[in-house]
Amino acid sequence: MDGNVEREWFSVIVEVTGDGAAELVADAAWTLGAPAVEERVGPQGAISVVTGFADAATAHRLVEEVRTRSLGTARVETVTDLGLDAWRAHARPESAPPFVVVPAWLDPSDLPGVPLLIDPGHTFGSGSHPTTRLVLSRLATLLQSAGSAPHRVLDVGCGSGVLAVGAALLGASAVGIDIDPGAGPATLANAELNGVADRVTFDPRPLADLAAHVRRGRCGEGFEVVVANLLAPVITELADDLFEVTAPNGFLVLSGLLADRWRATVDALPTGRRVIHVDREADWVAVTLG
Ligand SMILES: C[S@@+](CC[C@H](N)C(=O)[O-])C[C@H]1O[C@@H](n2cnc3c(N)ncnc32)[C@H](O)[C@@H]1O
Repeated sequence: MDGNVEREWFSVIVEVTGDGAAELVADAAWTLGAPAVEERVGPQGAISVVTGFADAATAHRLVEEVRTRSLGTARVETVTDLGLDAWRAHARPESAPPFVVVPAWLDPSDLPGVPLLIDPGHTFGSGSHPTTRLVLSRLATLLQSAGSAPHRVLDVGCGSGVLAVGAALLGASAVGIDIDPGAGPATLANAELNGVADRVTFDPRPLADLAAHVRRGRCGEGFEVVVANLLAPVITELADDLFEVTAPNGFLVLSGLLADRWRATVDALPTGRRVIHVDREADWVAVTLG
């Protein structure tokens, strides 16, 4: 990786207005290929979404989208920093019991927990975000309490593959899917890094295709555990297919939901499943449906 090459970076700062606008802005940024999106809460509770792109045109497309959808006020700042990989120098191990998510270039020995080595490249899923850690811990509890039979896990929006690899380290076989073209290679490389390449696959098809397979009975009854660390609008959009790919006695773990708004998202989901766990860290929750 050319981690220390100095280059221009187009940071987009959006001061959002209105309920749910932050999630819509973040969703738009992910869709445009942002490698990271951060939500900041100001002293008076004002919310801003900060993201960035390697090219000015994409940054301005996001600004335009914010303007036409009246999501807030947006500006672009040109930053010259050490490049997209500058964050690597500051990355540190993150605890998500029973795991410790370790940047692949650091030494995992002497850290408490099951080491989960991750190099996210430019995908999402370094383990530094609460939404990832919440799912890792819940996944471990679900798989461990379900006994020793092999389990099939689907990771929808796998990014770096951190959740799929975590599931495989616990003995499950895991399939990752994602719309980001970088996610497949990253997931498979991280599986290899952790010695679980035989239990992790990446499926390039969209979720709707997998759901159709399950409907036609070509994929058994579905996956015993489905994890989806997405944003609320994406969860809403994919809800029918997420339910379809989850086996009747399986669990669906939804993350990326804001603590003060998760209920509205979950209430609007299809019926037939009930909330059995709500795990929270900072402003985020992961909701498990059984
Ligand atoms: C917040 S990241 C989660 C990454 C990783 N699973 C984790 O927990 O850290 C969300 C991921 O969902 C992917 N995504 C967004 N919309 C999607 C869709 N409709 N189908 C599949 N993946 C999607 C994004 O590309 C991104 O990699």
